[in-house]
Amino acid sequence: MAVGIFDSGLGGLTVYDAVHAAMPDQPIVYFGDNAHAPYGVRDADDIFEKTTFAIERLWEAGCDLVILACNTASAAALRRIQESWLPADKRVLGVFVPLIEAMTERSWGDNSPPREVAVKHVALFATPATVSSRAFQRELAFRAIGVDVEAQACGGVVDAIEEGDTILAQALVRSHVEALKRKMPNPEAAILGCTHYPWMAETFQDALGPDVKVYSQAKLVAESLGDYLERHPNMRGSGQESMFLTTGDPKLVSAHATRFLRREIQFISA
Ligand code: DGL
Repeated sequence: MAVGIFDSGLGGLTVYDAVHAAMPDQPIVYFGDNAHAPYGVRDADDIFEKTTFAIERLWEAGCDLVILACNTASAAALRRIQESWLPADKRVLGVFVPLIEAMTERSWGDNSPPREVAVKHVALFATPATVSSRAFQRELAFRAIGVDVEAQACGGVVDAIEEGDTILAQALVRSHVEALKRKMPNPEAAILGCTHYPWMAETFQDALGPDVKVYSQAKLVAESLGDYLERHPNMRGSGQESMFLTTGDPKLVSAHATRFLRREIQFISA
């Protein structure tokens, strides 16, 4: 009954943590492609190849349903995966939609026509690949009208987090927020459109100021996964065991993960 969670590296652990808190008995197999992070500076074909490799490994571990807890892979590869690669008995879900539904005050799977919503000025912080894909704006346009989105590509932040350099990550976040504010001085909401960024949520909130509502994905994705599994219990795969797989150095990745989640996490080689 295992479910797979994939990210280019450590960021998807923010989603893992929320899913585990909401469903403690659910076996979860986590795959971090740490050897190849960051994905945010790679092109779409490369991201597709690496993401599908990881998904196949998660199938082997008994996960029929895989969550791409990686906005960059969701933005650059998910559509191609769903339209031309995925067999009928498997599912791959991305992380954009639950967030956009929350921001546009929609309940799960509400596909009614786009309408006006309360927020008008939204700052999007994401990786360069996610920003250039415009996938967020495309999904938003299906659900809301009249929302002005200013996107800031946050180069360097994922690398700093993967290397465990929190001081550098904080400094980069502050400079990206300043750059965003030069383009949009008064956003009402900010989207942390990369699963690594919740580790830096306090710095984002501090730099943006208390009046900006900061949305991050982990809890929203966990809620919509719970809902999905209730409606599709057959998508719980055959795997029984939770595990953490990495393409990187398991010792190093385990040490970073343990520090971020504040409990012992043991990665093994993928
Ligand atoms: N955590 C990822 C995301 O949500 C990936 C970042 C990266 O590898 O550049 O976009």
